[in-house]
Amino acid sequence: MKGAATARLREQGTAPRHFLDIDQLDGATLRAILDHARAMKRARAALAGRITPDPSPLLAGRVLAMLFERPSTRTRVSFQIAMRQLGGDTLLLRGEELQLGRGETVADTARVLSRYVDAVMVRASNHAHLTEMAEHASVPVINGLTDRSHPCQVMADILTIEERLGSIRGKVVAWCGAGNNVAHSWIHAAVRFGFELRLACPAELAPAQAVAWAREHGGKVAATTDAAAAARGADCVTTDTWVSMSDNDGERRKKLLAGYQVTAALLATANPGAIFLHCLPAHRGEEVEAAVIDGPQSAVWDEAENRVHAQKAILAWCLA
Ligand code: CP
Ligand code: NVA
Repeated sequence: MKGAATARLREQGTAPRHFLDIDQLDGATLRAILDHARAMKRARAALAGRITPDPSPLLAGRVLAMLFERPSTRTRVSFQIAMRQLGGDTLLLRGEELQLGRGETVADTARVLSRYVDAVMVRASNHAHLTEMAEHASVPVINGLTDRSHPCQVMADILTIEERLGSIRGKVVAWCGAGNNVAHSWIHAAVRFGFELRLACPAELAPAQAVAWAREHGGKVAATTDAAAAARGADCVTTDTWVSMSDNDGERRKKLLAGYQVTAALLATANPGAIFLHCLPAHRGEEVEAAVIDGPQSAVWDEAENRVHAQKAILAWCLA
């Protein structure tokens, strides 16, 4: 009977609005979410206090459960602050502390949580846990990172680029590093938002399937092994940790990625005015030189703040 509940809800026209991945939504919807994020950020500019509710809080009385199967700083805190600003509340749940850790199914957990809360944000060790949660929940499910993707992060990243450089359409973004979860969401975003994405990855770590998907969908997405070629003339250079939470071959990855560090010399070949982004946590001296992440072109702290604003708009789209 897998998915029967969801199928029934769809028939009734009451299927929840999940935010699972950027490739699952159309460009107009994603654009509307980001425009709303910017408007809400502007509307708060004069307010004192980061947890002061918005003037007309959109989610008063609503509760978001945040289920973490992996550690987090930004995702956890930014969703919590986002819900407070929207007038709602959060519940923090750790996978190993739930009956999930003793074998209760994701499907049953989804059914039960749906009776208690208005939405569930999941940071999953395995993407299948997220999709199973969405399949069986009757409330919206939001992807707070899986081993496959990190869509909330890249929504915040695009918000940051647009604040600094104007419309993302037609811009050039260079990714240096592994073809990991964050890279996948960048690929999805390039297609949906219409920008050029150049991925510089070692061949062994290239996201070949996602690049093929992007090409089939008319995206301007190219993979190369040459970081210098990717960064030249780019508007944004971005990277991520060489070893993700789901990787268990750290030493191998560090060797493969040694030539992909974002250095000041590499960033100097990008467009004048180009910005540097990193989803964080960062490892200075590995994927990025300290002079870059702590330098004048770095927008990483705005990027981290923008998780709050982007996620408020995502929550509002799912729930309001
Ligand atoms: N960028 C990001 O998602 O950070 P956390 O792992 O701290 O949530
Ligand atoms: N690729 C990283 C992102 C952390 C926010 C990881 O999955 O660990």
